[in-house]
Amino acid sequence: MTYEPYDKQLVSDIVASFDARPEMLIQILRGLLERFGWISEDAIRQLAAELNLSRAEVHGVVSYYHDFRTEPPGEHIIKVCAAEACQAMGSRELSAHATDKLEGSNVTLEPVYCLGNCACSPAIMVDGKTYGRVSKRRFDEILAALGNSG
Ligand code: FES
Repeated sequence: MTYEPYDKQLVSDIVASFDARPEMLIQILRGLLERFGWISEDAIRQLAAELNLSRAEVHGVVSYYHDFRTEPPGEHIIKVCAAEACQAMGSRELSAHATDKLEGSNVTLEPVYCLGNCACSPAIMVDGKTYGRVSKRRFDEILAALGNSG
């Protein structure tokens, strides 16, 4: 995944594209996430100033939504579904396995709550692509194909 490094002007441009409307905060944060891959403390400060909100208000929204990561992601992002259907098919064990495999790697591992692929549980998403019926072995294969066998 390629994201741009944080840039104050780009943040301002995204804010301006939503007419600096505070009620568009979530959409603005999504815009930042698409561009930079994460929401930095500096960005939170800047958003608060430009949207005329308190930093606590922006923080509150950022911490409420799982998607708004507050650290730069690794080179790849793997999301393991933690919702009901996938849990019933062993996603918790898969997630524990993934945590072990990815320790010290440049891959960011995150939970996600349903990938819309429940019929093929457990499901994961790797850099935006969904995979179904992922066993531990299949997970290792997918990881090896990324060039990150841990
Ligand atoms: S519950 Fe995992 S894809 Fe829906």
